[in-house]
Amino acid sequence: MLGVCYYPEHWPKVHWKEDARRMRELGLSYVRLGEFAWALLEPEPGHLDWSWLDEALATLAGEELKLVLGTPTATPPKWLVDRYPEILPVDREGRRRSFGGRRHYCFSSPAYREEAQRIVTLLAQRYGSHPAVVGFQTDNEYGCHGTVRCYCPRCRAAFQRWLADRYGEVEALNRAWGTAFWSQRYRGFTEVELPHLTVAEANPSHLLDYYRFASDQVRSFNRLQVEILRAHAPGRFVTHNFMGFFTDLDPFALAQDLDFASWDSYPLGFTDLMPLPPEEKLRYARTGHPDVAAFHHDLYRGVGRGRFWVMEQQPGPVNWAPHNPSPAPGMVRLWTWEALAHGAEVVAYFRWRQVPFAQEQMHAGLNRPDYAPDLAFFEAKKVAEELEGLDLPSLRQSPVALVYDPEAAWVYEIQPQGAEWSYLGLVYLFYGALRRLGLDVDFLPPGASLQGYPLVVVPSLPLVGGEALKAFKGADGLVLFGPRSGSKTKTFQIPPELPPGSLQEFLPLKVVRVESLPLDLRERVEGSLGVYALGLWREWVESPLEPLLRFSDGWGALFRSGRYLYLAAWPSAELLGALLALLAGEVGLPVRLLPEGLRLRRRGPWVFAFNYGPQAVEAPAPREARFLLGERWIPPYDLAVWEEG
Ligand code: GAL
Ligand code: ZN
Repeated sequence: MLGVCYYPEHWPKVHWKEDARRMRELGLSYVRLGEFAWALLEPEPGHLDWSWLDEALATLAGEELKLVLGTPTATPPKWLVDRYPEILPVDREGRRRSFGGRRHYCFSSPAYREEAQRIVTLLAQRYGSHPAVVGFQTDNEYGCHGTVRCYCPRCRAAFQRWLADRYGEVEALNRAWGTAFWSQRYRGFTEVELPHLTVAEANPSHLLDYYRFASDQVRSFNRLQVEILRAHAPGRFVTHNFMGFFTDLDPFALAQDLDFASWDSYPLGFTDLMPLPPEEKLRYARTGHPDVAAFHHDLYRGVGRGRFWVMEQQPGPVNWAPHNPSPAPGMVRLWTWEALAHGAEVVAYFRWRQVPFAQEQMHAGLNRPDYAPDLAFFEAKKVAEELEGLDLPSLRQSPVALVYDPEAAWVYEIQPQGAEWSYLGLVYLFYGALRRLGLDVDFLPPGASLQGYPLVVVPSLPLVGGEALKAFKGADGLVLFGPRSGSKTKTFQIPPELPPGSLQEFLPLKVVRVESLPLDLRERVEGSLGVYALGLWREWVESPLEPLLRFSDGWGALFRSGRYLYLAAWPSAELLGALLALLAGEVGLPVRLLPEGLRLRRRGPWVFAFNYGPQAVEAPAPREARFLLGERWIPPYDLAVWEEG
């Protein structure tokens, strides 16, 4: 279940055999390679040099390693860019980006699409039936470095065609976008510009459609590659490595074309970049925030329809965050086990050896640049040894479904209405509250069936489509909606019946006013659940329902109609904790508030407990529990696994 990312092209050939042997000895089974190697595979246009990759694959295969080949399209070579300068993307400020980093291409460029198809075809023809090649990764981290949205003339033309397909006639677009406002009326689709460089803010409906279009372009670019791989690499899987805290593309849509999802886990880098209170950032600087990796494991398991890999696992200090601390001893092992507990099929470390040159020379690997093993090597080895005696049971459906909508992130990015409003921030708050109660969570896209989930949380769903509405009506558990749910139509207008729009079918209430508040301005709410101080966002709701919580001026803050609940404010962690514990209790889910740095995750009958804190904690295991790993008292940065009776 372990693997590594390897770049034979960075190292003298004389070391390859030894590297491969040490990988196997360490207990690794998978190697991902090749994803940035275009210029070395095709040093001159049309002149392919497969010899080194042939040899690298043969060497790795000689040690019985299973290989995952990356298509090299994240890094078009210099000669290609010089031949077709138009493949370089244009940023929001209208600047043409240059060669010398990576991801320097536009997803709409016809020339680049052709070139990508050409190199992927050659690669797939050569290695699609290689006995050691078990699968392919398309490209690398689509959208990294802000590259989903390009503002070049080719994107403009493609966007106009996309709009014409969607709206049919331009008057439909004028109505959908409300172009009567500020004289924005268009006489034809070819008049529509890309929504950037406007003097005042661009029209939100225009922006939302452009974000949808840009995400669709990535999907169609990816699909071109998948089709080629399917044709020439029979029986091999196709995956892509998605990113953490990244919302510019819709991973659920893209993954429909993949066999499963993968993602790249860098808990320390993410924690430094997250909007956390400073004291929490410090507390978790060497461990990562305890929900950060788990959140993405659960998200990408959902994206992968139950299947995912961690394609890149942080092994030590990285090079790209504002600060790059060394993980606390034990954390690489803990992160690996945590991924497996959440259902990862494989965890691959990034990278085999720290490279002494170029952009990532400060990024640790399993080995040091002097070829000696680094700290993570020994932690990976320990996991490999522990795995030997264990046969991990398969996952069961989690008791809680969290409805996650990539389009919601776009809506709030376009129109936050309050500076701190963040979709991911709100989802993370809900997720963290559930995890603190020891509950396992499945992420589902809107419209997926909610049957069999005793508890469903919808942190916020501004756009409620017909399928989503149907799924909510078909839910058999409790369904909790957060603020701003049902607040927009799909073309970004306020629904005629007012928010929560079509949710009014089962939630008889109307949001008649909303306000955003500076962080320190808090409103008191109280009710049978307790007293809380809430800030950031508040709604005024007219409803025949008797509220469960009220603001101090008497307006309701939490409503319930049958099994549906609506929260008319940005919640605090305390309020969410109390509310979710109450709802879980009602549907018979056992919950307990876990100590601060402790998290649980079940895999079949096994319970995993992870200690992110600096002190030993007692595992919340029954007295007679049989421990498969660790013991009742879990040391700092360590774990325990027991079987539930
Ligand atoms: C990932 C990327 C890798 C490498 C790594 C460094 O985002 O896929 O190629 O750059 O980060 O942490
Ligand atoms: Zn473009």
